Amino acid sequence: MRILVTGASGHFGGAAARMLIERISPRDLILMTRKPEKLAALKGAGCEVRYGDFDDEASLEAAAQGAEKMLLISGMKVGYRIGQHSRAIDAAKKAGVRHIVYTSYIGATKDNPALIAKDHFGTEEKLRASGLKWTAMRDGLYMNSMVEAAAPPAIKFGRWVTASGEGKTGLIDRAECVGCAVTVLLSAGHDKHVYNISGTELWSTSDMAALMSEISGKPIEVAHVDRDGFYAHFDAMGVPREPLTEFNVGGIQWCSDDIVSYELAMRDGHFAVPSQDVRTLLGRPAKGFRQFALERADFIRGCV
Ligand SMILES: NC(=O)c1ccc[n+]([C@@H]2O[C@H](COP(=O)([O-])OP(=O)(O)OC[C@H]3O[C@@H](n4cnc5c(N)ncnc54)[C@H](OP(=O)(O)O)[C@@H]3O)[C@@H](O)[C@H]2O)c1
Repeated sequence: MRILVTGASGHFGGAAARMLIERISPRDLILMTRKPEKLAALKGAGCEVRYGDFDDEASLEAAAQGAEKMLLISGMKVGYRIGQHSRAIDAAKKAGVRHIVYTSYIGATKDNPALIAKDHFGTEEKLRASGLKWTAMRDGLYMNSMVEAAAPPAIKFGRWVTASGEGKTGLIDRAECVGCAVTVLLSAGHDKHVYNISGTELWSTSDMAALMSEISGKPIEVAHVDRDGFYAHFDAMGVPREPLTEFNVGGIQWCSDDIVSYELAMRDGHFAVPSQDVRTLLGRPAKGFRQFALERADFIRGCV
C-alpha cells in the first residue's frame, strides 16, 4: 500500500514522513510538495518526491497516481482552502486514492462562525460527499504556535491583547497530531470518523498568559477588548481585514477577519472540546500545556 503525504516540506508533513519511514518502506511513501528541493534527504532515503500544489489542478492528479491513502495536510490560505482542498480531493479520487485522512480543526462544526472553522468544515463536507473513505483529524490549537508565535510578543511587551474573554480552547502538541494521523494511516478502520485531537484540559488566554508569566518571570497584563477594539488593534498595524492572497507575513497569509472571528468563537466556547481521542489512538494521554511549556522554558525565558 502506497501513502501520499501532501505538503511534505512543512512541519507536519516532514514529521509525518519521518515517522512513516520508521514503520513502512520509504518506497511506499509518495511526498507531494511545492518545494521538492527541500526534500532531498527524504528522497535520498528512498521516498518518491513529486511536485504538487493545491492551486495547480494537473499537478495534483499526477502527484496522487499509485497512492491508496492520502494524508491531506490543510494549506495556509485562510478563506481559500475549501477550493484548494476540494481540488486535491477530486484529483485523488481520479487518481485512484481510496482513503483520505485530513488535518481538520477542533470545533469545525457547521455553527462555528470562525473563518478557520468554515474552511475546515467545508472541506469535511467535501470529503463526506466524495464517496471515498475519509477520516477527519480535528487538531486542537497547536501548543507550538502558542509558545513560538503568540507568547513571545506578549512576554516581550508585557501585554496580551485578546477578544477571547474567558473562553477556553483545547491545546495539543503538533507532534501528537502527527502521531495520531500516522496511527490512522497505518491501521484498519477509521472510515467516516471524526477524531478530536486535543487533551482533556481547556485553557483560556488568561490561563496561558499566567503560565508564560510564571515561567518567564515577566508580568503579563491581559488586555480584554471587544470585537471593534480587536479589529482596531490590527487595523493600526496595517493588517487587512479580508483574506488577500498577496498579503502575507513571513509567508503566512494574515487577515484580521481570521484572527478576530477565531477569538470571538473561542470566547463563545466553540473550541472548548475536551477529548480522550489521543489516548484512544496513542494509548497514552495527551501531553499537558504546562509540561510542554516547561520543556521550552529556556526559549520562553529568552523572550523577556
Ligand atoms: N492546529 C493549529 O493550531 C494549526 C496551527 C497552524 C497551522 N495549522 C494547519 O496545519 C497545517 C500543518 O501545519 P504546519 O505546522 O506543518 O505548517 P507549516 O510548517 O507552515 O506548513 C504549511 C503547509 O501547508 C502546505 N501548503 C501551503 N500551501 C499549499 C499549496 N498551495 N498546495 C499544497 N500545499 C500547500 C505546505 O506544503 P509545501 O510542502 O508545498 O510547502 C505545508 O505542508 C497548516 O498548513 C495549517 O493548515 C494548524
